[in-house]
Amino acid sequence: MSERRWSRRNVLKLGATSAGVFVAGRYYVGRVHAKQLSPLEKKDKYTIGFAQVGSNNPWRIAETNSMKEQFETKLGWTLIMTDANEDTAKQLADIDTILAQRPDIMIFPPRESQALAPKVLEIYEAGIPVILIDRDVDHSIARPKEHYITFIGSDFVDQGRRAAEWLAKTMNGEANIMQLEGTTGSDPAIDRKQGFEDYLAGTFKGTPTAEGGFPGMKIIASQSGDFQREKGRQVMESLLPAHPEVNAVYAHNDEMAIGAIEALEAAGRKPGEDVILVSIDGENAAIQAIVDGKLGASVESSPFFGPIAYETMMKYIEEGIDAIPEWVVVEDRFFDASNAEEFLDKQF
Ligand code: AHR
Repeated sequence: MSERRWSRRNVLKLGATSAGVFVAGRYYVGRVHAKQLSPLEKKDKYTIGFAQVGSNNPWRIAETNSMKEQFETKLGWTLIMTDANEDTAKQLADIDTILAQRPDIMIFPPRESQALAPKVLEIYEAGIPVILIDRDVDHSIARPKEHYITFIGSDFVDQGRRAAEWLAKTMNGEANIMQLEGTTGSDPAIDRKQGFEDYLAGTFKGTPTAEGGFPGMKIIASQSGDFQREKGRQVMESLLPAHPEVNAVYAHNDEMAIGAIEALEAAGRKPGEDVILVSIDGENAAIQAIVDGKLGASVESSPFFGPIAYETMMKYIEEGIDAIPEWVVVEDRFFDASNAEEFLDKQF
């Protein structure tokens, strides 16, 4: 895991391949396998296995819709879709159910980084190529270009870094911060925490870095809200009595930030005034909360993977694995009071 995150911070951007997408080259030393990634033969229609993590927030729904629109509506291909209902064991079982139907390729987000990595190896052994979207697996177990084609997704470490940079500037380097973490063991929760904490500590590997960090930016509590609005609300409700000094919140996604805003208001606090919040995703409700002055900023995390997954799959079919980078990096924007109006109801 640490090797993977280290390599992410040292990403070499080679150039844009299409709107909003950059390819990245990363170096790592891997075992040499006799077995190769299975090729995909050229044909008119393909069957795609899509094991979704859940449907309990606008981000997931937007991701599912993007996949359906691209592969079913635009192309008329078959999408075998399952919904793990935010349960890792169910996602593992769902993948088996899909594999029994012999899809041409699996394109999916692994809910947890370590738990899903052996399953990626199993799919590889079964001769079905895999593209991971949105979340990655632990590279000490399964590696891109070797066991699966590639990972397509955002730079989660940098998202955390951007949230920290905005918060440190807004709070003039002094804050008592509560962190609402995403799903334990998931790639975005691990990386968003690392990027945020490293930047504040002055140990962020990459640029921009903050020499010496921000000793006045203290994380007074950090707990998982599982990327869910209701759990974010509950965590804030339970932490508030013990931490009345809180004046800043970093939530790993917008849904938990919105839950936290509800809990703060119920406790008589004023989000946006006496507690400053920053989160990640850029969903419509978050943009509205920025316009309303309750949420300070949101780092975008794009859920629109359908077109990028299609482009990458076609490149693999036509040019082979050598033409594919280990990581197809999705570029994300940043929303705050300076531009939120312009994006109202334009997100997801
Ligand atoms: O993997 C991406 C994260 O998962 C999104 O930030 C979140 O909203 C979703 O549940």
